[in-house]
Amino acid sequence: MDYDNLKIIALHKHPEFLEACCEMINDEWPRSRTARMMSLTASCDELPTSLILIDDQFHLLGHAKLTSLPSVPDSCFIETVVIKKDMRGKRLGSFLMRQVEQYCKSVLNLKMLHLSTKGQEDFYAKLGYTVCAPVSIYGTVVRTKVESSKRAEKQKSPKSDNAAPPPPPMPIPQNVSETAIKSSKTYMFKHL
Ligand SMILES: CC(C)(COP(=O)(O)OP(=O)(O)OC[C@H]1O[C@@H](n2cnc3c(N)ncnc32)[C@H](O)[C@@H]1OP(=O)(O)O)[C@@H](O)C(=O)NCCC(=O)NCCS
Repeated sequence: MDYDNLKIIALHKHPEFLEACCEMINDEWPRSRTARMMSLTASCDELPTSLILIDDQFHLLGHAKLTSLPSVPDSCFIETVVIKKDMRGKRLGSFLMRQVEQYCKSVLNLKMLHLSTKGQEDFYAKLGYTVCAPVSIYGTVVRTKVESSKRAEKQKSPKSDNAAPPPPPMPIPQNVSETAIKSSKTYMFKHL
């Protein structure tokens, strides 16, 4: 594989790859074409950004999407990392990830990258990612057990006698570490 002939480009700057990209991703994770296209056409210079891997013959080889991670400044979330089925095992996934990391560092000025995976932990570990506590992709930090207890304690003292009692705190799951909320996915991160 001649990696010199490969490059990553932003999908929104090359809409001619939209259809092929939609098909490639849906081949891995089936979803309605409309929903997938909506997600892909949201790509822009700010986040979210879909980056695609192509060769010098303009064949689409892979895709990765970067989304914002408001709960972790200086980082973003990588998702929908995929290499075309018949092109796997040729180190294209590693090449794509390294190029994406370079883009995050030099174009987006980020210092970290986060992701979640179920089954591809070894692939990411080989690229230098380490397991971390779950991060919220919705703008707030995922609360630890200690923080949740403090919050529940706060809610116990109403401001006035007439105030309605606060709702009961969310149950705290048992058998989880202080820093991690149970999740079926493995969260990983890497310093750039
Ligand atoms: C995961 C994926 C992107 C890897 O791309 P790839 O081009 O096949 O991977 P590479 O050839 O760069 O592999 C690099 C190394 O990771 C290993 N690896 C790749 N996929 C792996 C997996 N699923 N489990 C364990 N190791 C894996 C390779 O064996 C190789 O190891 P080596 O350096 O010891 O030889 C690709 O298999 C894919 O598109 N999978 C389906 C979609 C998916 O699951 N994406 C991840 C979502 S979190």
